[in-house]
Amino acid sequence: MSVKTMETQEVIELLEKVAGFDRPAGNDRVKTIIHRVMHDVFQIIEDLDITPEEFWSAVYYINELGKNGEAALLAPGLGMDKYLDIRMDAEDEQAGLAGGTPRTIEGPLYVAGAPMSEGFARLDDGTDTGAEVMLLKGVVTDENNRPLANAIVDVWHADSKGAYSYFDPSQSEYNLRRRIKTDAEGRYLAQSIIPSGYGCPPEGSTQALLTQLGRHGQRPAHIHFFISAPGHKHLTTQINLAGDKYTYDDFAFATRDELVVEARPVTHSAQGERHGVTGPVTEVEFNIQLVSTDRQDRQAMHQRQRVMA
Ligand code: BEZ
Ligand code: FE
Repeated sequence: MSVKTMETQEVIELLEKVAGFDRPAGNDRVKTIIHRVMHDVFQIIEDLDITPEEFWSAVYYINELGKNGEAALLAPGLGMDKYLDIRMDAEDEQAGLAGGTPRTIEGPLYVAGAPMSEGFARLDDGTDTGAEVMLLKGVVTDENNRPLANAIVDVWHADSKGAYSYFDPSQSEYNLRRRIKTDAEGRYLAQSIIPSGYGCPPEGSTQALLTQLGRHGQRPAHIHFFISAPGHKHLTTQINLAGDKYTYDDFAFATRDELVVEARPVTHSAQGERHGVTGPVTEVEFNIQLVSTDRQDRQAMHQRQRVMA
């Protein structure tokens, strides 16, 4: 069956009523968006000759997705977070705010309000005894490579099983999450453990759809950052560790060449020893360059629903 109904007066009027165009109440922006969304959904049904069986399986899929709390997990898997980044990069270009360390997606696993430290912090609670000790270090500078003191480096990552505190209730509060204020030379230093990559819940709705697409739901080992400093554009980014099976095959499309970082095992670290970190460690260095702006809206991170533990 292949019928064409989209141009009929009946469908045009139906879409207008669906979006509330015939009523003064409501929100005009929402009306415009819903009109367009429903138009495009109807069009897809027509163009791809979607059967009632396919349509209802999609409806009940969305029910399951919501029940599993996975909508914000499916979104990056379908490239939506990456697409928003592509748009923000293009907007930066247009506004003369391009440059510096590239952004990449935030993901759904940030928790606000991590403890704040000056210059150095230990991120892990010491319970992951089999994990490799990591020393994460770097300098925050402006575009002219001048160090930025008192920049806030808000860092979070998974444990050696790929799980995040708060979302994994077996971990202690704020485990592997800290905010570090850079020192007078713009430096930050963190003792932690080498994370493992994240994997979508194997029985969840996201993995079910990815399987239909012939895709996996894995991320490489990675470390997230929010970096902010007065007078500079807020940066949301993350580094992917080199050598992971998924470094260049991230289901969430967060990898950027400039953000792939080597983890280097060393027998000892003088910097670490100053903070009581003795013995062999694996060093990860990530220097961050911020772009200056006086636009207040760009100095703050964009608003979205986040965990405020
Ligand atoms: C993460 O950052 O770990 C993540 C990002 C997108 C989807 C799932 C997890
Ligand atoms: Fe992550």
